[in-house]
Amino acid sequence: FGPVADGGSTTPTSHRRRLTKISVIGAGNVGMAIAQTILTRDMADEIALVDALPDKLRGEMLDLQHAAAFLPRVRLVSDTDMSVTRGSDLAIVTAGARQIPGETRLNLLQRNVALFRKIVPPLAEHSPEALLLIVSNPVDVLTYVAWKLSGFPASRVIGSGTNLDSSRFRFLLAEHLQVNAQDVQAYMVGEHGDSSVAIWSSMSVAGMPVLKSLRESHERFDEEALEGIRRAVVDSAYEVISLKGYTSWAIGYSVASLAASLLRDQHRIHPVSVLASGFHGIPHDHQVFLSLPARLGRAGVLGVAEMELTEEEARRLRRSAKTLWDNCHLLDL
Ligand code: NAI
Ligand code: LAC
Repeated sequence: FGPVADGGSTTPTSHRRRLTKISVIGAGNVGMAIAQTILTRDMADEIALVDALPDKLRGEMLDLQHAAAFLPRVRLVSDTDMSVTRGSDLAIVTAGARQIPGETRLNLLQRNVALFRKIVPPLAEHSPEALLLIVSNPVDVLTYVAWKLSGFPASRVIGSGTNLDSSRFRFLLAEHLQVNAQDVQAYMVGEHGDSSVAIWSSMSVAGMPVLKSLRESHERFDEEALEGIRRAVVDSAYEVISLKGYTSWAIGYSVASLAASLLRDQHRIHPVSVLASGFHGIPHDHQVFLSLPARLGRAGVLGVAEMELTEEEARRLRRSAKTLWDNCHLLDL
């Protein structure tokens, strides 16, 4: 391609858009589902992949590069060395051990804390202004660990939290009510795990309270039935893991939706793992991360919703917070 007649082929500096770089640390099932979804949604000008396995890492990068003819132009790079993430706007951490059938997320704690001690300091050093989005499990405790090890302000250290659980919850409710899951406003909060809390009191469909719709559409929708739906959300990850060995697609879409809200400064509200000290009676000196509805933008967590909870919901949230704090405060970070 030759230059046009007047030779003007450079973009004026004033017109140059700041390029966006996203790094994904951990190129496994989850990391690659996230990378593929971010690519498809045209969210970044550069994507850096990091993993400890060089052949697998290079294979995943090449496989994505070979889709270039079908995707927006993006610079795809990869390395086992964290320096490849330099200058990231958003760093998504999925590296770590995953549950085997029957294991809880908290069972992964020691292995993945040891891993975070190795990967978080260099990641923070190479991208001191980045947003950190933690996905590895147990995600709430590891988000606390990443906050401590990175030295970043809590507003820039976020866990994917119950954004995924809330999507599962909305799916189940939508099935019950025969509506689109995107029209169901429903939150799971607290731990991304067995103690997560379903917030029934504020649920709505088209502005109508869900509980009222459910009770009108189902003769028996008592506390036992509500707990049954909550349990079905908590058990869904274990079911998928027992069937296919891991979960990946839903978390891929969940994290891509968070990346879009953050990098495009959408000010959208997501239930994500944030520093929750002082909210809903959680002691101020318990520096625990757990999911609450948070407004997300380019600066990270712009604000955390002061939800109106029933006393039972607040009690369950505080119990979830204590479970998590019991796992955090003994860590020597
Ligand atoms: P996976 O085993 O497929 O991938 C983990 C990757 O981490 C592997 O490729 C491994 O080589 C890499 N890795 C290990 N040590 C590393 C290091 N030092 N540096 C860079 N990479 C390293 O596991 P999968 O299925 O992708 O799950 C990853 C994590 O995500 C697990 O902890 C899992 O529990 C969690 N997860 C969290 C979800 C959430 O909602 N928060 C949902 C699904 C999974
Ligand atoms: C999930 C687990 C793996 O919720 O965290 O998919």
